[in-house]
Amino acid sequence: MSRKLVFATHNAHKVDEVRAILPASVELVGPAALGCHDEIPETGKTLRDNALQKVQYIHDRFGVDCFADDTGLEVEALDGAPGVYSARYAGEPADFAKNRAKLLAALTGISNRRAQFRTVVSLILNDKTYFFEGIVTGRIIAEERGVGGFGYDSVFVPDGYDKTFAELPAAVKNSISHRARAMEQLNNFLAQHP
Ligand code: IMP
Repeated sequence: MSRKLVFATHNAHKVDEVRAILPASVELVGPAALGCHDEIPETGKTLRDNALQKVQYIHDRFGVDCFADDTGLEVEALDGAPGVYSARYAGEPADFAKNRAKLLAALTGISNRRAQFRTVVSLILNDKTYFFEGIVTGRIIAEERGVGGFGYDSVFVPDGYDKTFAELPAAVKNSISHRARAMEQLNNFLAQHP
C-alpha cells in the first residue's frame, strides 16, 4: 500500500536524494503540493530543534504526516563549526560557494581535516513525533573538486573513498551519506508502522 508523506523542505536537491532513497511505496511531496511556498523557519540552536521546528511548521498548518531534516557539517578542528549554522556560515543570504570558501580559508594551514555530516530527521506520524539521526565521517580537502551534489559536497571526501561527494555518482552518495543513513532508519520505522 502506498503512503503519502510531506517532506518539509523547498530544497530540490534534498527531495531528489530522498526520493531515490525511500521505496516507491512512499509518495513524497513537497510543501508546494499543499500550496505552501513560505520560507520555513529554522532558528533553533541544534539540528534537532531545527528539524522539529520545520516539521511542526507544516504539521500545525496542514495536519498531515510529514518529516523534515536538518543537516550540519561538523569540523573537528573548528570545534564542530559550522554545525547548525552550516547554511549561513558566510552570512546572509545563504550562499553555498561563499560558505565553502570561508571553510577552506578557516582550515588553511591546519592538518587535522576530520569532519562529519550529521543529519537529524524529525517525523510526525499520527500526531506523534519521532527522531532519527545519520552520520558520515570524512575529511575536508584543500580545494574544491567535482560539480555534483550541493552545499559542501565538493570539499568533503567520505572515509573509504578518495573522491568528494561532488565527484562520486549520486547513487554512491545516496548509499552512504548522512541523509541516506537517517532515511534508512526512517524507512525501517515506517515499515514497522504501516
Ligand atoms: P539544512 O539546514 O539541512 O538545509 O542544511 C544546512 C546546510 O548544510 C546546507 O545549506 C548545505 O550547505 C549543507 N548541507 C546539507 N546537506 C548537505 C549535503 O548532503 N551535502 C553537502 N552539504 C550539505
